[in-house]
Parts: sequence; C-alpha cells; structure tokens
Amino acid sequence: LFIDASERSSRPIPQTLFGIFFEEINHAGAGGLWAELVSNRGFEAGGANIPSNIDPWSIIGDESSIIVSTDRSSCFERNKVALKMEVLCNSEGTHICPSGGVGIYNPGFWGMNIEQGKSYKIVFYVRSTGEIDISVSFTSSDGLQTLSSTNIKASASDVSNWTKMEVLLEAKETNRNSRLQLTTSKNGVVWFDQVSAMPLDTYKGHGFRNELVEMLADIKPRFIRFPGGCFVEGEWLRNAFRWKASVGPWEERPGHFGDVWMYWTDDGLGYFEFLQLAEDLGALPIWVFNNGISHNDQVDTSSVLPFVQEALDGIEFARGDASSTWGAVRAAMGHPDPFDLKYVAIGNEDCGKKNYRGNYLKFYDAIKRAYPDIKIITNCDGSSRPLDHPTDLYDFHVYTSANNLFSMSHQFDRTTRQGPKAFVSEYAVTGKDAGTGSLLAALAEAAFLIGLEKNSDVVHMASYAPLFVNSNDRRWNPDAIVFNSFQAYGTPSYWVQRFFTESSGAILLNATLQKDSSNSLVVSAITWKNSEDGQTYIRIKVVNFGSNSVNLQISVDGLDPNSVKLSGSTKTTLTSANLMDENSFKEPKKVAPIQTLLEDAHKEMSVLLLPHSFTSFDLLK
Ligand code: AHR
Repeated sequence: LFIDASERSSRPIPQTLFGIFFEEINHAGAGGLWAELVSNRGFEAGGANIPSNIDPWSIIGDESSIIVSTDRSSCFERNKVALKMEVLCNSEGTHICPSGGVGIYNPGFWGMNIEQGKSYKIVFYVRSTGEIDISVSFTSSDGLQTLSSTNIKASASDVSNWTKMEVLLEAKETNRNSRLQLTTSKNGVVWFDQVSAMPLDTYKGHGFRNELVEMLADIKPRFIRFPGGCFVEGEWLRNAFRWKASVGPWEERPGHFGDVWMYWTDDGLGYFEFLQLAEDLGALPIWVFNNGISHNDQVDTSSVLPFVQEALDGIEFARGDASSTWGAVRAAMGHPDPFDLKYVAIGNEDCGKKNYRGNYLKFYDAIKRAYPDIKIITNCDGSSRPLDHPTDLYDFHVYTSANNLFSMSHQFDRTTRQGPKAFVSEYAVTGKDAGTGSLLAALAEAAFLIGLEKNSDVVHMASYAPLFVNSNDRRWNPDAIVFNSFQAYGTPSYWVQRFFTESSGAILLNATLQKDSSNSLVVSAITWKNSEDGQTYIRIKVVNFGSNSVNLQISVDGLDPNSVKLSGSTKTTLTSANLMDENSFKEPKKVAPIQTLLEDAHKEMSVLLLPHSFTSFDLLK
C-alpha cells in the first residue's frame, strides 16, 4: 500500500462530509432523545375528537370511586382535549377512598427511569369545582412503592379557572420502571391537561437525554438532517410533520399521529428543538420539509403555494431577526439569535412522483429568491444521469446487502465531476446480513464510507440511517444506537462511524493498493490535526472484508524518513469472533473498536490485518 503524504497529491475533504440523520422513527425522539417522561401529556392521542385516546394513562380506583372521561374544555386552543376526573369517594363519611386515593397514572414510554438523588420537574394544568388536594408522586410500576411524592393543595377559587402547577420531585430511590401518579381522596370534579415530567438534568439544559446526545457528540457530526425520512411525508398529508404545529410553548402544541411509523408524538421535540440540538452539537441543521407530497396523496402544483409559504416561514423562523414575524416566535422561545440554517431538502424520496418536479420548482424558485445562499437538496439522484431541474445537492439513499454495499465503495468513482454534489443522506446494510446490527453490515458500511471519503470531491455529505431505536418499538432494523429507558449501546455500524470523526475537513491523501488478489481490501488515508494534543496525524483506514488475515506492507511516501514518530502512533481495530456478532444491553461492547499503541510505526511498515476487520492506523507525523 503506497500512501503519498506529499501536498501535490492531496485534496481537502469537505467540512460537512460526515453527519447524522435523525428521524422520528422507533420512538427515537418521543420516549428517546427527548427527555420528557410522560407519554400523551395532553390526552390528545385520539386526535381532536372526544372521547379521546388517553393511552397509556390508566385509572387508579374502581367505578364506584372514580369516573374518568375527556372533554374539550382545555384552555389551550390548539389542543382542546382535557381529562375530567369525577371523584366519588372521600377521605371521610360513608364512601371512603382506598388508601392512597384514586386518580390516574402514566407509565411513560415503557416505564419511567427515575434515579435516586435526581430531581424532576412536574408541570400540569388543573381546574376544579372545589378545593383540591392532589398527591403527585413517582411510584413503582404497581404503585406500591413511592419513590418521591408531594401534595398540592389549593382553594376552590384558586383553581376555578385553569391553573398551572409546578413542583420538583427528588427521587429517594432508583426504579427503571416507574410511573407518575396524580391521586386524591377529595370528593369533587377535577380536570387535568398538559402533564409533563422532565428530568432537571438534560443536555445543556435543553431537554435532551444526556447519554444519548453524548453518543452523538462523540461522532462529531458536521450536520444533522431532520426530522425524517418518511416521517416528513406521512402516509397521508394530514398526518405529515408540519413545523408550525411543533413550535411555541410546549403546552400549546397539538401533537400528531405519525402514520408511517404508527405512533403519537406530543411534539415536545419540535422544529425549534431540532435546531437547538444542531447548535448544541456544533452541527449544521439540514431541514427536510414536506413538499405537498405524502406516500398516498399529493397537492397539485397549482395549489402548492401554501406549502411553499410554510417552508419560507420555516426558514424565517430559523434565520429571521427577532423583528421578523417568525423570528419573533423563535426569540420568544429563548433564542434571539438566528440559527445557522444553510441547507434545506425539498421532500423525502418523492422523486418521480407525479407532482414532484412541478412542486420542487415552486419551492426552489421561491427559496432562492428570498435566500440565495441556502443550498437546496433534491430527492432525485443525479449520480448516473443529469437532472431535469436545478439543485445544489442531490439525495442518494441506499439500503442493501453487505456484498452490494461493499462493492459500492466504487459507486461514485464513475460519477460525473460536473454539476451538483451528492448527499448520501441514508445508507445502511439491511436484511439478513444485518440482523439488528452485525459486524458484517458494519464492515461493508466501512468500505462504502471509505469510498465516499475518496470521492468527496463529488460527495459532500453522508449519514447513516436510522440513527436510533428504542428497543421497545423496533420499527426498523438495524439502527446505529439502541436504547431503552436507562441503557444505550452502539451497534457495530455506530462504531464504524467513529472511525470517520476526523475525516470532515481533513486532507485526503493518495492511497494506492499495489496488489490485492482477494479483492477484499478497501483503503484510504488522510491527514488530520488533533485539536486536543495539537499534533498532526496520518490516518490510514483499511477494511479487510475477506476471511483470511492479510499482511500489508505500508509505505508512506513524501515524508522525512524519520518523521513518523515511534511513540504516540496507534492502531484501532473493529472485529469479532463471528461475522454476525452483535452488541446487546448485556454485551454492549462485544463488537467495538480496540485501540493499541503501534510500537513499530514507521514510514515503511508491515501490518497484520485480521480477517473480517476494520483497522485504522494513526501515525503521528
Ligand atoms: O430510514 C428509514 C426510512 O428509509 C426513511 O424514513 C426513508 O427515507 C427511507 O425509506
């Protein structure tokens, strides 16, 4: 393997090359990255009509003590449904309430993770015909053990109109499968709406689950594409994600049923929060919006202007100053400065649908007129033939077998160097080669990513999909990060991405394999500067997709004979005993990179590549 480390053969890699794609799929956001513990906090999951679907809320007490229903008496205009609780028993008299009272509880998303010593902010809205005495508590899943509890009392006049209540609960114990209870032993009628329970400790205080964001931050993503995927489209337009319904005070958001991945979201994780997450990660936001097309229905191009206006308003929300209509809404949400929105995608996987081109052009023209600097991404693949519409980037998605993806490490070698650049916004090995996240899948993805890195003159961005799965709701396999209410691990595909954290903005070197009779090796080389130790490294990455170990002779040209220092160079390997090995909650790092010092680092060296492995050599220059 010849690496030419001289400047004459090198080329800068785009700053944006590797990022992430977040989709609200598999309960990635609701019950995942977004730390809200209550599911269906506004009792709105049945839609605007009543009786509404209050699931997963349940009732504590029997029919002789409590009647629970929903009505449309909420003080929030966009989500009128409220929960009505008629308490028939009392703490005195003939019909005494059961001990602990009657009421409702919410188990969250497959159980709330309540941790000893941590504080949780509980907010809810209440109204009553009389005085109230409500116990707010976290309990075990059967309600028998109390982890933390407080009482809220108010006179009838204080709660005759909707009133916001706010309390902090500190957990005395840890229970991974808790629930939130609102109970009383006071006879009367009480209405509840918008019940929220958030841990106080979230990523940068912005509502995201710490350990999950940290796993993202460790990939050093240069962009985040959001919020979907099919989630953006919907099976039907009426169920598509529409950004305006997801901004403003959380209490006022209507929530919606995502009919592709088949679950309700309260939309606490809305457009603003995605932009905030991008900023917190130091990643550029890439907003995918609906272009008037869902899986099953489409708006005619002649009637698409309201959608175009919605997109323009969304850009103004992100970028406008605080005196603009939508910039003011953003500022009121606590972010007076604009967000750094430079990329938008017009739809998702809609190319070829009847109205796509027509609709696309309406969006393209309007956005370029108002925001000439914004880069626009089309759904149509421009890698193999010229596009029939203008664009800055074209979207490219691939889900395939391991062998196919491995051979696609050459996919962009043949692509024209003219015209718009590629955004490989969704790639993964799927099907039986992948299971729920195998080493085999990850190795093929590593080879594919090396191919993208080497073709980064035409490929400007790439992201794996999907990013997250809540193990309780596997809608799509495999995924990069698996979690439940309290645990998380990266699949081998996640770990592969960690090998590329330094590639964006690095320098690509010319790396030529002289001989590879097995056709099982894929290699690249970059130089990158480590901001932590200030040192410059050459990183050589090699996938050995074959079942034999390989002795590789590496020769780094264009360096002083002694310039590769012997100390400080490392070798990192991702492999495992079996190709189909996966990680799990029990063995979260069964397939994870192992780093060792490279004792014999030199400009001429011989290295052993294990069968079915991905190895990177960081040579300290
Ligand atoms: O990543 C899962 C889905 O795959 C996305 O929603 C969609 O864009 C693609 O079909």
